[in-house]
Amino acid sequence: MKGIILAGGTATRLFPLTATTSKQLLPVYDRQMIFYPLNVLVKAGIKEILIIVAPEHSGQYINLLGSIFEKHNINIDFKVQKVPRGLADAFIVGEDFIDDDSVAMILGDNIFEDDLSKDIMNFKSGGRVFAKEVPDPERFGIVEFDADKNAVSIEEKPEKPKSNFCVTGIYVYDNRVAGIAKNLKPSERGEIEITDINNWYLNKGELDVRILAGEWLDAGTYDSLLDAGNVVREKEIYKKFHPVINESIKDFNEELKIIAKKRLN
Ligand code: TTP
Repeated sequence: MKGIILAGGTATRLFPLTATTSKQLLPVYDRQMIFYPLNVLVKAGIKEILIIVAPEHSGQYINLLGSIFEKHNINIDFKVQKVPRGLADAFIVGEDFIDDDSVAMILGDNIFEDDLSKDIMNFKSGGRVFAKEVPDPERFGIVEFDADKNAVSIEEKPEKPKSNFCVTGIYVYDNRVAGIAKNLKPSERGEIEITDINNWYLNKGELDVRILAGEWLDAGTYDSLLDAGNVVREKEIYKKFHPVINESIKDFNEELKIIAKKRLN
């Protein structure tokens, strides 16, 4: 299975913090936000990871992540998304990278407390998404369940939500996903919607919707960015990173020290 982190976007809600850097490079507690989704993929044993970034930030991502995973045999690729066309665009930008494999795509600003490794590793076919109860369902893709707790519909940002369970920002799909994404028509807000991909699988009876037990945050606003840091500290999520991630962060810090020393001399 391949992994994609979608780390482009415009991040208007975090402006002006994001006037100088990418949202997903802002700190969440003791490390850059991007390490949280990266950790989910590395924990699931994924060795081929594509990071999709906005054009103006590609250099910063390459500086941070371009070489530190090499010695762990994890290959990080980068691709620019010229225009933020929607979450489903990840599979069009990433089509060549996905090649003949299945793919786990995670949003660069999403933080999960649950360890999703097994759910990702034992995926076989169709689609698999993870839902979480939220107080403000109008903002998300919302899952309607029948009496037996089977998903029956998913609506993007509904005015009258049929439940409080939203689809969170990690999506596992089989190899059909790029083809499905390429056939999508933009929604009223002009984006190609991942909800349409989920409904494609749901209509075929091939979408597995699992409920998250732990905390889930998208760190896209001032409040949720602060909440994310607090949750990471309180739930000690920073202690549960894969050793490869911790070692890579350490290596990056060592590299910086050498560069700083050279500058001083
Ligand atoms: P959003 O938070 O929906 O959008 P945004 O990051 O541009 O922020 P804002 O709404 O404040 O302007 O995006 C969720 C994640 O997906 C985030 O990590 C950015 C990423 N993204 C892309 O990389 N490309 C896209 O086309 C979109 C829509 C989002």
